[in-house]
Amino acid sequence: MNHKIFEGIRTPFYYYDKELLERTLDAIESCTAGTPMKVHYAIKANSEPEILRIISSRGFGADCVSGNEIKTAIECGFRPENIYYAGVGKTDEEILTGIDAGIGCFNIESLEEIDILSELASERGVRVTVALRVNPNIDAHTHEYITTGLKENKFGIDLRVLEDAIKKVKASQHLDLGGLHFHIGSQITISEPFKILCDRINDLQAQFRLDGIKFRFFNVGGGLGIDYDNPDENPIPDFTSYFDTILSNLHLEEGQEVHCELGRAIVAQCGSLISKVVLVKKGLDKSFVIIDAGMSDLIRPALYGAHHKIENISAEGLPTDKVYDVVGPICESSDIFGKDELLPETRRGDLISLRSAGAYGSAMASHYNMRDLPGVLIK
Ligand code: LLP
Repeated sequence: MNHKIFEGIRTPFYYYDKELLERTLDAIESCTAGTPMKVHYAIKANSEPEILRIISSRGFGADCVSGNEIKTAIECGFRPENIYYAGVGKTDEEILTGIDAGIGCFNIESLEEIDILSELASERGVRVTVALRVNPNIDAHTHEYITTGLKENKFGIDLRVLEDAIKKVKASQHLDLGGLHFHIGSQITISEPFKILCDRINDLQAQFRLDGIKFRFFNVGGGLGIDYDNPDENPIPDFTSYFDTILSNLHLEEGQEVHCELGRAIVAQCGSLISKVVLVKKGLDKSFVIIDAGMSDLIRPALYGAHHKIENISAEGLPTDKVYDVVGPICESSDIFGKDELLPETRRGDLISLRSAGAYGSAMASHYNMRDLPGVLIK
C-alpha cells in the first residue's frame, strides 16, 4: 500500500478501497446473474453513504434493522421495494417509517409482532408483505455473541409455533405472506451450516406444501465470513462456493426466489483503520505501541476478541522482527488490538493499518471518552 495517499489526513480514519469494493461486487454479480438469487446488502455492516451508493447503483437490495437505516438506504439510492426490514424490537415509529416508505418486506420475529404490524398497516389502510423469521436451531460454529440461529436466542420464531404464525398472517387482511427468513450467524467460514440450513428449508417447504401454503421466496440471511488473517491473499470471499452451496442445495419451485443478506463479506476487506503511533512505551518485559485509534473506533477486538491484521505501513519492506503489544489510548484494559505482534522497528509518528475493518468498524464506533468519531477516506 502506498501510504503517500494518507499524508496530511487527521488520524484515525477509515480508508476504503473503492476498487476492491467494486471487484467484490463484480464477483457477486458474476455468481448470481441469471439465478433466482437476490442479494440484499446488510447496511448495519457499514452505512457510509458513498459505500451505500456504490452498492445500490448495482441494483442490490438492502437489509435494514432500524427506521434510520431505512431512511438512509432510500437517500442513498436503494429502491424501497428492495428494502427489507428485520429486527426483534421494531418500534411503532420505525414500522410506520417502513410502511410509509413502501418497503418491500417486514421480517417478523414473533407472534406478537404480527398483531402489531397488522394493526399499524390497518391504520394506514395498506397491505404489507411479510416474511416470518424462523429460528432454525443450527449451530454455525462462530463466536457466541454472533451466533443467532440457536434455539436459546432471542431471534426468530420457534419452529414449533411457525404454523400458528403462518395462520395468524393469513388471517390478517393487511398482511401478505411473502416467504420465510433465516439467519444462522456471522463470520461463518465453512459451508456445512449453510447446507444444513438449505435442508431445513427444503423440509419446511415440503411440510407446508401439504397444507397448500406456498412461499414466494426464502431469505437465507447473511453470515458469509472473510479471511481476517490473510487479507491480501484472500481479498474477495469465496462467493462461488457460497452461492453454489445455496443454489444447488435448495429445492426451489418454479418462480421462487432466494434472497441473502450479506454484510461483512461485501465490505470488510475493502476497509482499513489507519492510525498513528502516539509513542512507543518501553516496558520492562514488553514494549507497547500506543496508537491514536482505540476501541471507540474499532470495538471488535475488545468485544469479541477479534484480531485484525496489524501493519506498520510507514516501515513497509523492513524486517518484521520486533515484538510489541499494540494498544489504544482508552481507559479500559480491553483496549488492545494485538499482543506480541511481530512488526518492524516502530517509531512515534508511524502509520499503523488495522486491516479488514470495513465491516462493523465505523458502524460500531462511538464517542466513548468523548473522542471524535474516526474520519473517512474513500479512494
Ligand atoms: N441478516 C441478519 C438478520 C443479521 O442479523 C445480520 C448480522 C446479517 C444479515 C449480516 O450478517 P453478515 O453477512 O455481516 O455476517 N458486530 C459483529 C457482527 C454482528 C452481526 C449481526 N447480524 C461483528 O463485528 O462480528
